[in-house]
Amino acid sequence: MYIVHIASECAPVIKAGGLGDVVYGLAREIEIRGHCVEIILPMYDCMRYDHIWGLHEAYRDLWVPWYGGAIHTSVFCGWVHGQLCFFIQPHSGDNFFNRGCYYGCNDDYMRFAFFSKAAMEFLHRSNKRPDIIHCHDWQTGLVPVMLFEMYKWHGMWNQRVCYTIHNFKHQGVAGADALWGTGLNNDAYYYNYDRLLDNFNPTAINFMKGGIVYANYINTVSPHHAWEARYENEGYGLGHTLNLHHYKFGGILNGIDYNTWNPEVDRYIPFHYGMENFEDKILNKKALRERLLLRDSDKPLIAYIGRLDQQKGVHLVHHGIYYALNRGAQFVMLGSATEPAINNWFWHEKNFLNNNPDVHLEIGFNEELAHLIYAGADMIIVPSNYEPCGLTQMIGLKYGTVPIVRGVGGLVNTVFDRDYDNYHTPEERNGYVFFQTDYKALESAIDRAIGLWEQYPDEFRQLALQGMKYDYSWNNPGETYLQVYETIRHK
Ligand code: ADP
Ligand code: GLC
Repeated sequence: MYIVHIASECAPVIKAGGLGDVVYGLAREIEIRGHCVEIILPMYDCMRYDHIWGLHEAYRDLWVPWYGGAIHTSVFCGWVHGQLCFFIQPHSGDNFFNRGCYYGCNDDYMRFAFFSKAAMEFLHRSNKRPDIIHCHDWQTGLVPVMLFEMYKWHGMWNQRVCYTIHNFKHQGVAGADALWGTGLNNDAYYYNYDRLLDNFNPTAINFMKGGIVYANYINTVSPHHAWEARYENEGYGLGHTLNLHHYKFGGILNGIDYNTWNPEVDRYIPFHYGMENFEDKILNKKALRERLLLRDSDKPLIAYIGRLDQQKGVHLVHHGIYYALNRGAQFVMLGSATEPAINNWFWHEKNFLNNNPDVHLEIGFNEELAHLIYAGADMIIVPSNYEPCGLTQMIGLKYGTVPIVRGVGGLVNTVFDRDYDNYHTPEERNGYVFFQTDYKALESAIDRAIGLWEQYPDEFRQLALQGMKYDYSWNNPGETYLQVYETIRHK
């Protein structure tokens, strides 16, 4: 099969969060199974060019129709750790991808409408006819709309679309101008409840809704979140649309790339270890402490790695830091915030805690440091408000770093409470789960984890080893996506 991903991220070259990991990891898995996979991405000025091999201009004069005119565009191509990627670079327009950031601009909906349009035009003009177009999140929601309303008439009859939703919170709610740009001009037709009209704002269209309505298959990134999205308003207003299209909607749990995230081969950690030599993990803990100037002591070390955002339960992260310190543990946080208020809040805390040798708050994005923290910490907290899948708990498990998570979304499908779990045998349990969003709930889970670490170190070690045994690689999800591709391909 021939599969083309159209996405706004691909790790490690473009990564703001888990989307990047998933696009790269899934593409690799499918290619290793003998299929042909390519990825189309925006050519951002701020991406990590040092991770692209052999970058060159592959398609020089792509004129992308835009508002009745056309934007002169080049398509570059290169390999990202073995994976063939194409990068869209417009030469005029509003400098769509030269903004020094991936997201967060006022005209994001225009930037990604253009990107989707350019990606489709590139497929069309270069005669690429993939069996499957796999697109991701709101940024590419217009792709199936354009395919079935427009490009179908340009010879793209046989293409089918798999649309993966990683985050329902961001949907791409925009005015008609976004549609006009792409040439989808018939307002009355698209401003229709059955098509792109936003479920709440009768004057706006919704990119993600377009993706749901038009794609041949839609999924979110864990079975539990698929359920929440339909029944618990975790679809942020799209629950009803999902229910209407339930026959083509499912939840497929993400994997993680075990070539990147594996303490036996991780190139960013000083001491490799696995289940056989688990005791060497502590050498990474020492290395982490040295690097962050933390006191060397007989204390457990708790970590948080992730975006600092309401989604991630920032108030619980914040509380967790102080509670862990009070309980005699050390804490390391690595996070980045896009919201200024949250950013300022954590900078304030960082300054406040500056002289405390048991805590380090690192604000910013640092891939390499993340690897060392996963390897060096004893526990990792994931107190999310909602979590479509979550990768940090799965990476934690692989590194023998016991996850302490809130029981929502994909966290429910991956972490099983050591003390309270009706569905898993004691040998299958791998972490700690709490449910409420109040401080007490988090505290009691942290208490249980620290208590075991302090009083029953052998049992704590056993729990960590049980986590390492899980296979959360791309092996199973890769198989499932292939089945999806096969099914929709013949429809
Ligand atoms: P989300 O996609 O919602 O941000 P995930 O848990 O799915 O959350 O994925 C987060 C990914 O981004 C993981 O690979 C994690 O290690 C990484 N990550 C998050 N924040 C940072 C950061 N500040 N520095 C380095 N890596 C980070
Ligand atoms: C999103 C979700 C996260 C998921 C990731 C990759 O950013 O917030 O839960 O793991 O996408 O699918």
